[in-house]
Amino acid sequence: VPANKKQLPLAGQTWLITAGPTREAIDPVRYISNHSSGKMGYAIASAAQSLGADVTIISGPVNLTTPAGCRKVAVTSALEMHQQALALAASADVFVACAAVADYRISEVASEKIKKSQDSMQLNLIKNPDIVADVAAMANKPFTVGFAAETQDVEQYARDKLTRKKLDMIAANNVATAGQGFNSDDNALTVFSATDKKVLPLMSKTALAKQLVEQIQLTLQKSRG
Ligand code: CTP
Ligand code: CA
Repeated sequence: VPANKKQLPLAGQTWLITAGPTREAIDPVRYISNHSSGKMGYAIASAAQSLGADVTIISGPVNLTTPAGCRKVAVTSALEMHQQALALAASADVFVACAAVADYRISEVASEKIKKSQDSMQLNLIKNPDIVADVAAMANKPFTVGFAAETQDVEQYARDKLTRKKLDMIAANNVATAGQGFNSDDNALTVFSATDKKVLPLMSKTALAKQLVEQIQLTLQKSRG
């Protein structure tokens, strides 16, 4: 650690952040994915790095430059992201699950391009592992932060995920509101822990990431007494 970094508040901490979408292959030329841009996860990585943390981003396919000083582990599918997250989380102090992980994958990926035939066709899907829940279930788990992108009953669903996945914190956003969330440059979040609730109003993802990192640091300090 360079001398000038030791003074920073997150010096000595290792942060692991998942970001972006995952892609679930259908055949060699097709996949299922979502509109996640990765901007929020990359902004959190940049904010944590600026405050002195050692940062690794486990990233699905995105069109973003890796923030200076951050390490990037590129993955494609949810299963790959799961494997990397569990391997790297053992040595992390903080895990932030910002990725929009596909909930399901194709049960049997076709080895050849599927040819067009009938007027309708079915794809068989099976559930992917829950990455953040599996990290939170580790014996030596990092301080674990999840996200909840909801279109309704935001607080109720977020609190339910916080408890069910045994997270230390959850950052909820309403993706039904125009101009925030998926693909946008701006976002608003409400952050919940078991005891606290903090509203971070609509602002740039860069500014929001700084406030979220601050909030994580505060809650982490409290939890360690
Ligand atoms: N998540 C994860 N692995 C998955 C699915 C979700 O790590 N297979 C993480 C996301 O990165 C996020 C949190 O879980 O931090 C919540 O994701 P979300 O999609 O809102 O919740 P789900 O549990 O998938 O429930 P649903 O999509 O039904 O709302
Ligand atoms: Ca989901």
